[in-house]
Amino acid sequence: MSYSPKTGLVYIPAMEHPLVYGDAKPFEIHEGRWNTAVSFLDPPALPGLPDTVEGRRKALEGMVKGKLVAYDPIAQKPRWEIARDWPWSGGTLATGGNLVFQGTAHGAFEAYSADNGKMLWSFKTNRGTMAGPITYRVNGEQYIAVMAGYGGSMGMASGTPFMKEKMPNGMIFAFKIGGKATPPAYTPIPLDKPTPSNESFTPAQIATGQKYFFQYCQICHGGPVNPDLRRSALLQDKEAFKAVVIDGALAPNGMASFAAYMKPEEAEGVRAYLNQRAKELLKEEAGK
Ligand code: HEC
Repeated sequence: MSYSPKTGLVYIPAMEHPLVYGDAKPFEIHEGRWNTAVSFLDPPALPGLPDTVEGRRKALEGMVKGKLVAYDPIAQKPRWEIARDWPWSGGTLATGGNLVFQGTAHGAFEAYSADNGKMLWSFKTNRGTMAGPITYRVNGEQYIAVMAGYGGSMGMASGTPFMKEKMPNGMIFAFKIGGKATPPAYTPIPLDKPTPSNESFTPAQIATGQKYFFQYCQICHGGPVNPDLRRSALLQDKEAFKAVVIDGALAPNGMASFAAYMKPEEAEGVRAYLNQRAKELLKEEAGK
Protein backbone atom coordinates (compact mmCIF):
# COMPACT_ATOMS: atom_id res chain seq x y z
CA MET A 1 0.00 0.00 0.00
CA SER A 2 1.22 3.54 -0.63
CA TYR A 3 0.01 7.11 -0.23
CA SER A 4 0.58 10.18 -2.36
CA PRO A 5 0.31 13.53 -0.57
CA LYS A 6 -0.01 15.09 -4.03
CA THR A 7 -3.20 13.26 -5.02
CA GLY A 8 -4.36 12.57 -1.44
CA LEU A 9 -5.05 8.97 -2.52
CA VAL A 10 -4.05 5.64 -0.98
CA TYR A 11 -3.08 2.91 -3.48
CA ILE A 12 -4.26 -0.47 -2.27
CA PRO A 13 -3.46 -3.87 -3.82
CA ALA A 14 -6.89 -5.27 -2.93
CA MET A 15 -7.68 -8.98 -2.79
CA GLU A 16 -11.13 -10.48 -3.14
CA HIS A 17 -11.05 -14.02 -1.87
CA PRO A 18 -14.25 -15.30 -0.30
CA LEU A 19 -13.77 -18.15 2.14
CA VAL A 20 -16.52 -19.95 3.97
CA TYR A 21 -16.33 -20.69 7.66
CA GLY A 22 -17.40 -24.02 8.98
CA ASP A 23 -17.37 -27.63 7.83
CA ALA A 24 -20.34 -29.92 8.11
CA LYS A 25 -19.05 -30.81 11.60
CA PRO A 26 -18.50 -28.41 14.54
CA PHE A 27 -15.08 -26.79 14.62
CA GLU A 28 -12.31 -28.67 16.40
CA ILE A 29 -8.69 -27.69 16.95
CA HIS A 30 -6.32 -29.97 15.01
CA GLU A 31 -2.72 -29.63 16.02
CA GLY A 32 -0.38 -29.28 13.06
CA ARG A 33 -2.87 -27.90 10.56
CA TRP A 34 -4.62 -24.68 9.70
CA ASN A 35 -7.04 -23.79 12.49
CA THR A 36 -8.93 -20.97 10.85
CA ALA A 37 -12.21 -22.94 10.58
CA VAL A 38 -12.23 -22.09 6.87
CA SER A 39 -13.60 -24.89 4.73
CA PHE A 40 -11.90 -25.55 1.40
CA LEU A 41 -13.15 -29.07 0.93
CA ASP A 42 -16.68 -28.99 2.19
CA PRO A 43 -18.18 -25.47 2.22
CA PRO A 44 -21.59 -25.61 3.92
CA ALA A 45 -24.81 -24.53 2.19
CA LEU A 46 -25.21 -20.76 2.00
CA PRO A 47 -27.83 -18.53 0.37
CA GLY A 48 -26.81 -17.59 -3.17
CA LEU A 49 -24.44 -20.55 -3.60
CA PRO A 50 -25.17 -23.78 -5.54
CA ASP A 51 -26.70 -26.77 -3.75
CA THR A 52 -23.83 -29.20 -4.21
CA VAL A 53 -20.47 -29.08 -2.41
CA GLU A 54 -18.66 -29.32 -5.76
CA GLY A 55 -20.80 -26.49 -7.15
CA ARG A 56 -20.10 -24.31 -4.11
CA ARG A 57 -16.37 -24.97 -4.35
CA LYS A 58 -16.36 -23.95 -8.03
CA ALA A 59 -18.54 -20.89 -7.40
CA LEU A 60 -16.23 -19.69 -4.60
CA GLU A 61 -13.16 -20.22 -6.79
CA GLY A 62 -14.85 -18.20 -9.52
CA MET A 63 -15.22 -15.21 -7.17
CA VAL A 64 -11.50 -14.97 -6.49
CA LYS A 65 -10.08 -11.79 -8.00
CA GLY A 66 -8.33 -8.56 -7.12
CA LYS A 67 -7.98 -4.91 -7.98
CA LEU A 68 -5.72 -1.94 -7.67
CA VAL A 69 -7.73 0.68 -5.79
CA ALA A 70 -6.91 4.38 -5.59
CA TYR A 71 -8.86 5.22 -2.45
CA ASP A 72 -9.77 8.69 -1.27
CA PRO A 73 -9.72 8.47 2.55
CA ILE A 74 -11.46 11.83 2.99
CA ALA A 75 -14.36 11.11 0.63
CA GLN A 76 -14.17 7.48 1.85
CA LYS A 77 -14.58 6.03 -1.62
CA PRO A 78 -12.40 4.83 -4.48
CA ARG A 79 -11.35 7.46 -7.04
CA TRP A 80 -10.36 4.83 -9.62
CA GLU A 81 -9.83 1.06 -9.81
CA ILE A 82 -8.03 -1.39 -12.08
CA ALA A 83 -9.64 -4.85 -12.13
CA ARG A 84 -7.32 -7.87 -11.83
CA ASP A 85 -8.50 -11.38 -12.62
CA TRP A 86 -6.12 -12.72 -9.97
CA PRO A 87 -5.98 -11.49 -6.36
CA TRP A 88 -2.28 -11.67 -5.54
CA SER A 89 -0.63 -8.76 -7.24
CA GLY A 90 2.25 -6.68 -5.97
CA GLY A 91 2.56 -3.92 -3.42
CA THR A 92 2.30 -0.37 -4.74
CA LEU A 93 4.68 2.58 -4.95
CA ALA A 94 3.44 6.15 -5.47
CA THR A 95 6.04 8.68 -6.67
CA GLY A 96 6.26 12.47 -6.65
CA GLY A 97 5.97 12.44 -10.45
CA ASN A 98 2.27 11.39 -10.36
CA LEU A 99 3.01 7.68 -10.97
CA VAL A 100 1.84 4.51 -9.26
CA PHE A 101 3.75 1.28 -9.87
CA GLN A 102 2.48 -2.24 -9.32
CA GLY A 103 3.60 -5.73 -10.35
CA THR A 104 1.03 -8.34 -11.35
CA ALA A 105 0.65 -12.09 -10.87
CA HIS A 106 0.69 -12.42 -14.65
CA GLY A 107 4.29 -11.28 -14.92
CA ALA A 108 4.04 -7.58 -15.70
CA PHE A 109 5.28 -4.45 -13.95
CA GLU A 110 3.01 -1.49 -14.66
CA ALA A 111 2.87 2.26 -14.16
CA TYR A 112 -0.37 4.23 -13.86
CA SER A 113 -1.14 7.90 -13.69
CA ALA A 114 -1.64 8.42 -9.94
CA ASP A 115 -4.49 10.91 -10.30
CA ASN A 116 -6.67 9.16 -12.89
CA GLY A 117 -5.50 5.52 -13.24
CA LYS A 118 -4.53 5.71 -16.91
CA MET A 119 -1.98 2.99 -17.74
CA LEU A 120 1.19 4.65 -18.94
CA TRP A 121 3.75 1.84 -19.16
CA SER A 122 4.04 -1.92 -18.84
CA PHE A 123 7.10 -4.16 -18.74
CA LYS A 124 7.13 -7.94 -19.03
CA THR A 125 8.93 -9.48 -16.05
CA ASN A 126 7.86 -13.04 -17.07
CA ARG A 127 7.34 -14.02 -13.46
CA GLY A 128 4.54 -13.12 -11.07
CA THR A 129 5.61 -9.89 -9.41
CA MET A 130 4.38 -9.51 -5.85
CA ALA A 131 6.94 -7.42 -3.98
CA GLY A 132 6.53 -3.75 -3.23
CA PRO A 133 8.68 -1.66 -5.61
CA ILE A 134 11.13 0.93 -4.26
CA THR A 135 12.56 4.15 -5.65
CA TYR A 136 15.94 5.75 -4.97
CA ARG A 137 18.33 8.25 -6.49
CA VAL A 138 21.98 7.78 -7.49
CA ASN A 139 24.01 10.76 -8.71
CA GLY A 140 20.85 12.72 -9.39
CA GLU A 141 19.15 9.95 -11.39
CA GLN A 142 15.96 8.32 -10.15
CA TYR A 143 15.58 4.52 -10.25
CA ILE A 144 12.60 2.25 -9.68
CA ALA A 145 13.45 -1.30 -8.60
CA VAL A 146 11.31 -4.34 -7.98
CA MET A 147 11.98 -7.91 -6.91
CA ALA A 148 10.08 -10.04 -9.44
CA GLY A 149 9.08 -13.55 -8.40
CA TYR A 150 5.95 -15.30 -7.24
CA GLY A 151 5.93 -16.77 -3.75
CA GLY A 152 4.75 -16.03 -0.27
CA SER A 153 2.14 -18.04 1.54
CA MET A 154 -0.35 -17.67 -1.33
CA GLY A 155 2.20 -18.95 -3.84
CA MET A 156 2.30 -22.16 -1.84
CA ALA A 157 -1.44 -22.53 -1.35
CA SER A 158 -2.90 -21.45 -4.64
CA GLY A 159 -2.27 -21.66 -8.35
CA THR A 160 -1.44 -18.86 -10.73
CA PRO A 161 -1.41 -18.42 -14.48
CA PHE A 162 2.26 -19.44 -14.23
CA MET A 163 1.25 -22.99 -13.43
CA LYS A 164 1.31 -23.70 -17.16
CA GLU A 165 5.10 -23.65 -16.80
CA LYS A 166 7.54 -24.29 -13.99
CA MET A 167 8.06 -21.22 -11.86
CA PRO A 168 11.03 -19.24 -13.12
CA ASN A 169 13.58 -18.01 -10.56
CA GLY A 170 13.19 -14.57 -9.08
CA MET A 171 14.95 -11.57 -10.59
CA ILE A 172 15.54 -7.96 -9.54
CA PHE A 173 14.74 -5.33 -12.17
CA ALA A 174 15.87 -1.70 -11.83
CA PHE A 175 14.62 0.95 -14.25
CA LYS A 176 15.60 4.51 -15.06
CA ILE A 177 14.54 6.89 -17.80
CA GLY A 178 16.63 6.10 -20.88
CA GLY A 179 17.90 2.77 -19.38
CA LYS A 180 19.13 0.41 -22.11
CA ALA A 181 19.85 -2.94 -20.44
CA THR A 182 17.88 -5.93 -21.71
CA PRO A 183 17.02 -8.77 -19.33
CA PRO A 184 18.25 -12.32 -20.09
CA ALA A 185 15.98 -14.20 -22.52
CA TYR A 186 13.12 -16.02 -20.85
CA THR A 187 12.70 -19.68 -21.75
CA PRO A 188 9.57 -21.35 -20.38
CA ILE A 189 10.30 -24.60 -18.55
CA PRO A 190 7.56 -27.19 -19.23
CA LEU A 191 5.85 -28.84 -16.29
CA ASP A 192 6.59 -32.54 -15.64
CA LYS A 193 4.12 -34.91 -17.22
CA PRO A 194 2.02 -36.77 -14.63
CA THR A 195 3.08 -40.43 -14.34
CA PRO A 196 0.37 -42.02 -12.17
CA SER A 197 0.62 -45.58 -10.95
CA ASN A 198 -1.63 -48.29 -12.44
CA GLU A 199 -2.42 -49.77 -9.03
CA SER A 200 -6.06 -49.78 -8.11
CA PHE A 201 -7.19 -48.01 -4.97
CA THR A 202 -10.56 -48.24 -3.26
CA PRO A 203 -13.02 -45.31 -3.22
CA ALA A 204 -12.66 -45.31 0.60
CA GLN A 205 -8.88 -44.86 0.31
CA ILE A 206 -9.35 -42.01 -2.16
CA ALA A 207 -11.94 -40.31 0.05
CA THR A 208 -9.68 -40.56 3.13
CA GLY A 209 -6.80 -39.20 1.08
CA GLN A 210 -8.83 -36.25 -0.17
CA LYS A 211 -9.75 -35.31 3.39
CA TYR A 212 -6.15 -35.50 4.60
CA PHE A 213 -4.82 -33.72 1.54
CA PHE A 214 -7.08 -30.72 2.13
CA GLN A 215 -6.37 -30.73 5.87
CA TYR A 216 -2.61 -31.05 5.75
CA CYS A 217 -1.09 -30.73 2.29
CA GLN A 218 -3.03 -28.29 0.09
CA ILE A 219 -1.77 -25.29 2.04
CA CYS A 220 1.82 -25.94 0.83
CA HIS A 221 1.19 -28.00 -2.32
CA GLY A 222 -1.66 -26.02 -3.90
CA GLY A 223 0.51 -23.49 -5.71
CA PRO A 224 3.57 -23.29 -7.91
CA VAL A 225 6.19 -22.83 -5.17
CA ASN A 226 6.38 -26.44 -3.91
CA PRO A 227 6.09 -29.61 -6.02
CA ASP A 228 2.72 -30.24 -7.68
CA LEU A 229 2.10 -33.69 -6.20
CA ARG A 230 -0.04 -34.77 -9.17
CA ARG A 231 3.18 -34.64 -11.16
CA SER A 232 5.37 -36.37 -8.57
CA ALA A 233 7.16 -39.54 -9.69
CA LEU A 234 6.80 -40.73 -6.08
CA LEU A 235 3.12 -41.54 -6.71
CA GLN A 236 4.37 -44.71 -8.38
CA ASP A 237 6.17 -45.91 -5.30
CA LYS A 238 4.33 -46.65 -2.07
CA GLU A 239 7.51 -47.00 0.02
CA ALA A 240 9.17 -43.86 -1.36
CA PHE A 241 5.99 -41.83 -0.77
CA LYS A 242 5.77 -43.10 2.80
CA ALA A 243 9.49 -42.39 3.33
CA VAL A 244 8.78 -38.71 2.57
CA VAL A 245 5.39 -38.23 4.21
CA ILE A 246 5.72 -40.43 7.30
CA ASP A 247 9.47 -40.95 7.80
CA GLY A 248 10.48 -37.37 6.92
CA ALA A 249 13.07 -38.23 4.25
CA LEU A 250 12.92 -34.66 2.87
CA ALA A 251 12.61 -32.93 6.26
CA PRO A 252 15.90 -31.01 5.83
CA ASN A 253 14.35 -29.42 2.69
CA GLY A 254 11.20 -28.24 4.46
CA MET A 255 8.94 -31.28 3.94
CA ALA A 256 8.36 -32.38 7.53
CA SER A 257 7.22 -35.82 8.64
CA PHE A 258 3.47 -36.09 9.20
CA ALA A 259 3.82 -39.19 11.39
CA ALA A 260 2.37 -37.30 14.37
CA TYR A 261 -0.81 -36.44 12.43
CA MET A 262 -1.61 -39.44 10.26
CA LYS A 263 -1.12 -43.16 10.15
CA PRO A 264 0.79 -44.80 7.29
CA GLU A 265 -2.51 -46.08 5.82
CA GLU A 266 -3.90 -42.53 5.81
CA ALA A 267 -0.78 -41.29 4.02
CA GLU A 268 -1.34 -44.15 1.56
CA GLY A 269 -4.85 -42.74 1.10
CA VAL A 270 -3.29 -39.39 0.17
CA ARG A 271 -1.23 -41.22 -2.46
CA ALA A 272 -4.42 -42.88 -3.74
CA TYR A 273 -6.21 -39.52 -3.96
CA LEU A 274 -3.27 -37.79 -5.67
CA ASN A 275 -2.91 -40.71 -8.06
CA GLN A 276 -6.54 -40.23 -9.05
CA ARG A 277 -5.94 -36.51 -9.58
CA ALA A 278 -2.79 -37.33 -11.59
CA LYS A 279 -4.83 -39.58 -13.89
CA GLU A 280 -7.40 -36.82 -14.39
CA LEU A 281 -4.66 -34.29 -15.11
CA LEU A 282 -2.98 -36.61 -17.59
CA LYS A 283 -6.28 -37.03 -19.43
CA GLU A 284 -6.97 -33.30 -19.35
CA GLU A 285 -3.55 -32.47 -20.78
CA ALA A 286 -3.75 -35.21 -23.41
CA GLY A 287 -7.03 -33.68 -24.58
CA LYS A 288 -5.43 -30.32 -25.33
C1 HEC B 1 4.79 -26.61 5.30
C2 HEC B 1 4.77 -26.93 3.90
C3 HEC B 1 4.45 -28.35 3.47
C4 HEC B 1 3.35 -29.10 3.81
C5 HEC B 1 2.20 -28.74 4.75
C6 HEC B 1 3.46 -30.32 3.05
N1 HEC B 1 4.58 -30.30 2.29
FE1 HEC B 1 5.20 -31.79 1.03
N2 HEC B 1 6.82 -30.67 0.50
C7 HEC B 1 7.12 -29.43 1.00
C8 HEC B 1 8.36 -28.96 0.41
C9 HEC B 1 9.06 -27.65 0.69
C10 HEC B 1 8.78 -29.97 -0.49
C11 HEC B 1 10.02 -29.99 -1.38
C12 HEC B 1 11.14 -30.66 -0.64
C13 HEC B 1 12.38 -30.79 -1.52
O1 HEC B 1 12.64 -29.89 -2.32
O2 HEC B 1 13.05 -31.80 -1.41
C14 HEC B 1 7.78 -31.02 -0.40
C15 HEC B 1 7.86 -32.21 -1.11
C16 HEC B 1 6.95 -33.24 -1.04
C17 HEC B 1 7.03 -34.48 -1.77
C18 HEC B 1 8.12 -34.88 -2.77
C19 HEC B 1 7.62 -34.52 -4.15
C20 HEC B 1 8.61 -34.83 -5.24
O3 HEC B 1 8.19 -35.41 -6.26
O4 HEC B 1 9.79 -34.47 -5.09
C21 HEC B 1 5.95 -35.24 -1.42
C22 HEC B 1 5.57 -36.63 -1.93
C23 HEC B 1 5.18 -34.46 -0.46
N3 HEC B 1 5.82 -33.26 -0.25
C24 HEC B 1 3.99 -34.87 0.09
C25 HEC B 1 3.25 -34.12 1.01
C26 HEC B 1 2.02 -34.58 1.60
C27 HEC B 1 1.33 -35.89 1.28
C28 HEC B 1 1.62 -33.59 2.45
C29 HEC B 1 0.40 -33.60 3.36
C30 HEC B 1 0.29 -34.73 4.23
C31 HEC B 1 2.61 -32.52 2.39
N4 HEC B 1 3.58 -32.89 1.50
C32 HEC B 1 2.53 -31.35 3.13
C33 HEC B 1 6.39 -28.70 1.92
C34 HEC B 1 5.22 -29.12 2.51
